[in-house]
Amino acid sequence: KKEPIRVAVTGAAGNIGYALLFRIASGAMFGPDQPVALNLIEIEPGMKALAGVAMELDDCAFPLVTEIVQTDDLSVGFKDVDWALLVGSVPRKAGMERADLLGINGKVFVGQGKAINDNAKPSVRVLVVGNPCNTNALIAMKSAPDIPNEQFFAMTRLDENRAKTQLAQKAGVPVKEVSQLCVWGNHSPSMYPDFENAKIGRQKVTDVIQDQAWLRDTFVPVVGQRGKAIIDARGASSAASAANAVVDTVRDLSSPSHGEIHSVCVVSRGEYGTPEGIITSLPIRVDGAGQWRVMEGVKLSEYAKEKIAASNKELLEEREVAFGQLGLSIS
Ligand code: NAI
Repeated sequence: KKEPIRVAVTGAAGNIGYALLFRIASGAMFGPDQPVALNLIEIEPGMKALAGVAMELDDCAFPLVTEIVQTDDLSVGFKDVDWALLVGSVPRKAGMERADLLGINGKVFVGQGKAINDNAKPSVRVLVVGNPCNTNALIAMKSAPDIPNEQFFAMTRLDENRAKTQLAQKAGVPVKEVSQLCVWGNHSPSMYPDFENAKIGRQKVTDVIQDQAWLRDTFVPVVGQRGKAIIDARGASSAASAANAVVDTVRDLSSPSHGEIHSVCVVSRGEYGTPEGIITSLPIRVDGAGQWRVMEGVKLSEYAKEKIAASNKELLEEREVAFGQLGLSIS
């Protein structure tokens, strides 16, 4: 009999939470034979709605679910968890400066990092979705000194999935034909979806789609602005597709990559000239033992290097502002 995997989800009563929990519970994340225990974390005002979500989970009678914990106490919520999915964060409100947002969320992620450090399994893996997710992940990592830095991630998989679909639709092929597509940098409109190394079937994307102007001036900005386009159309930020990307990220970090690459924000060791110590999106492969590594040998054009450097510069600025507000030191 398999031990359950214990998964904490913060912001569990929010929009992404509502799209995510049922997929974890159904087996989409860890497979159809793997039991799961759910630790659902909210802030006090969200607890009533959370009770409703938990009732609905109960009413699904998912055979894989062994336990549902509902809490606003982080030491309960992160107790013995294998995965911490940090989805909840404070949205930017009218009149709020970017620096304020970084500071407010920074405090939240200091607290969550500490609580993970003190309560989760030493092998816990932490995926930050709540924005600004790269900097929030860095703050959580800094606040959890006993957990190896390699166990902290932030999410750019939604951006990768968006990019793959844009390329597939332009080329008129099914989306599964698009592979090897890495989104680099910050999860923000400055991210760079690297079409130059991506493939359609066995061909280079640039051999199939020879319209360089479209690739640079339409594709790249469309992917970067897709989150805003969803908000404009739906009146709410992407939730089901974000939840789907969480499922993809965790599943792909939990199994060998077999030659495919994944876009995941991880702590940089200076690969490809990225600033060491920030959490930035890089091309990741997972080996047979379940260890991830940054893929080596990707050839980047001058154009790509410029785009990636600009996005990483934004991350350095975010770090400076947030660490300044929180009194954290970089080293
Ligand atoms: P939402 O506003 O519907 O839900 C957020 C939930 O988090 C609320 O229920 C709130 O009570 C809760 N919450 C707030 N602070 C919390 C805390 N300190 N601890 C625990 N719970 C807390 O927002 P939604 O649509 O679910 O989005 C969540 C976050 O995900 C946002 O920051 C959004 O920007 C981000 N996001 C990230 C994406 C990515 O690709 N990385 C894609 C889409 C959204």
